[in-house]
Amino acid sequence: MRRAKLNQRLKKLFLAGIILGAAAGILFAVLIAGNISSKKEAAYKEANADLEKKNQELQLQIDKNEAAHNNTEVLAGNEDGWSLTLVNEEHPLASDYVPQEMVEVEIERSVDVRIMEDLQQMLDDAAAEGLSMYVASAYRSYEQQWDVFNATMQDWISQGYQPLDAYAETKKSVAVPGTSEHATGLAVDIIASEYEALDDQQGETAEQQWLMEHCWDYGFILRYPPEKADVTGIIYEPWHYRYVGKEAAKEIHEKNITLEEYIEGD
Ligand code: DAL
Ligand code: ZN
Repeated sequence: MRRAKLNQRLKKLFLAGIILGAAAGILFAVLIAGNISSKKEAAYKEANADLEKKNQELQLQIDKNEAAHNNTEVLAGNEDGWSLTLVNEEHPLASDYVPQEMVEVEIERSVDVRIMEDLQQMLDDAAAEGLSMYVASAYRSYEQQWDVFNATMQDWISQGYQPLDAYAETKKSVAVPGTSEHATGLAVDIIASEYEALDDQQGETAEQQWLMEHCWDYGFILRYPPEKADVTGIIYEPWHYRYVGKEAAKEIHEKNITLEEYIEGD
């Protein structure tokens, strides 16, 4: 009798063990499955974000290629608008673009012939005011721009900057090759003979003061004004003048805006 009861208890215990074991197994399977699916979901999300980023980069590159193509066509043509070609980091120029006809404003300083008359008039009128200045840089090929870029980057590196930081610093004052206005033949760096340093003080010279006040009269603008680096991508350059034509130069001057803001209406 006792033995029968013991057997029954053992059977119950055995049965309870089986039920508990099965429940634990199901719970374990559910937990594992949940873990796998949330891992899968995270992996999908990561892959998706990665694809989206790649897509954006690709779109940016497509836009840049299109801008480079358009810029090159407009500049090379003689249709209205050639003088308003916007060249900056987002709007590059084909690396093999060369102005169709160039003329020397000074020895080894050439510009697109279409801006020569106004440029010469501006320089002559400044000289007539007793000011002394010269064109330190004008048209620069893609290769020449690389030389300037690399030399500036080396300067930063020799001051202790790591290459990536040196690159970021350089970009603020020298356009990445393929994105420089100097390649258009429409930009000139003009500096005072008595003060040749390329720094903010250059802007305080009588020569720059005169140029800033009068350049628009000749179709030029101060292309990288102070406090506009967030728009132009380039820090204040009191020596860099860009030909945009008299009408646009007047409006840009009067509204105190940049070429980006004039063209894109930002
Ligand atoms: N210094 C100007 C931004 C250039 O390199 O074109
Ligand atoms: Zn310049």
